[in-house]
Amino acid sequence: MSKAYDGEPLERCSQDVLQTRILHLGHDLDKTLTTLLGSDSYLGVASSEAGELARALEVWRRRGLPEADTVRWASAVLQSSQGAQGLESEPADSPSPVGESESVGVLEACIMNRRSVRKWQPDGVPREIVERILVTGTWAPSACNRQSVRYLVLEHQDARAFIAGVRESYLASAPVHIVLFAELANYFPEEGETVPFLDAGMAAQNMLLAAHAMGLGAVFVKCTPRDLAAVPSSGEESSLPVFKARFNVPRSFIPVGVIGVGWPAARPKAPPRRGLQEVVCTEEFSPTRQNLGAVHRGSPAKRLVKRAFVRGAYAAGRRLGLRVFIASE
Ligand SMILES: Cc1cc2nc3c(=O)[nH]c(=O)nc-3n(C[C@H](O)[C@H](O)[C@H](O)COP(=O)(O)O)c2cc1C
Repeated sequence: MSKAYDGEPLERCSQDVLQTRILHLGHDLDKTLTTLLGSDSYLGVASSEAGELARALEVWRRRGLPEADTVRWASAVLQSSQGAQGLESEPADSPSPVGESESVGVLEACIMNRRSVRKWQPDGVPREIVERILVTGTWAPSACNRQSVRYLVLEHQDARAFIAGVRESYLASAPVHIVLFAELANYFPEEGETVPFLDAGMAAQNMLLAAHAMGLGAVFVKCTPRDLAAVPSSGEESSLPVFKARFNVPRSFIPVGVIGVGWPAARPKAPPRRGLQEVVCTEEFSPTRQNLGAVHRGSPAKRLVKRAFVRGAYAAGRRLGLRVFIASE
């Protein structure tokens, strides 16, 4: 796990981490402007956040680092905090540029008609289209707007075969792979188990929807360090170091998943979704709704015995080189 990304003095941060910190500080100040302006606590919070942002921007300038949209944006936030007014924003009730019902309908159809496609035609995908998909990934929400997802595009057959070998064999026939990584240097250590995966998941869903909207077919296959560690690539060697060496992956990046994308050869039927009545409660979970959580299933003692059994079954399976599936899990 990397150390906290804000543990380093600004002067010694890499350019990338300094940019992340500028984004993060700009985000904090922007949020303060949006939510606290006019309240009693505004001045106290805003002046300390503005001070930190100003220092980070000054370091950027002193180091002669290049102009960047992100840095320009943070400077504008700082300026508007000094004038004590938020950056220009649309009033909440302004009409959406596309007719409301039309755009909502299009979005819902895109979400619901998207499928995980696992069979592709052999034709490649033009680079402009791949880039349009990648751009939608970069527009996903990210924790404190730190934008810490990194992307590796693979078109070469050997590279795709390698990914297929360590994850899902059908991926070999996807003409393009987009492998998603998280830059751990941008996270606090306590975020490492969760937030990088949330960020990458958000980006992945944007890209899946964009691919679908462009007539392509895509699938997301998780490819986390744990998935790779579990698959020996040669003899007893875990795939993770081999994977990182194969693609020259920086030490602070962790893989999260791979999107296989191309022109679909088959579009699967939609696997049904649980109805809202099966997954949603209002105000509090109901003890009579058995489907809503293992916590309502059986006594604590029974649950402990079951958990021990499940762990034992998985461990035995691993020793015998078998994959164990337990239906009620
Ligand atoms: C976190 C995550 C991990 C996934 N991992 C795999 C995977 O390893 N292999 C695979 O074939 N599909 C994988 N999928 C795709 C799911 O199987 C698929 O989304 C699900 O069956 C629903 O089908 P649909 O996407 O067509 O609606 C994954 C999806 C998610 C969100």
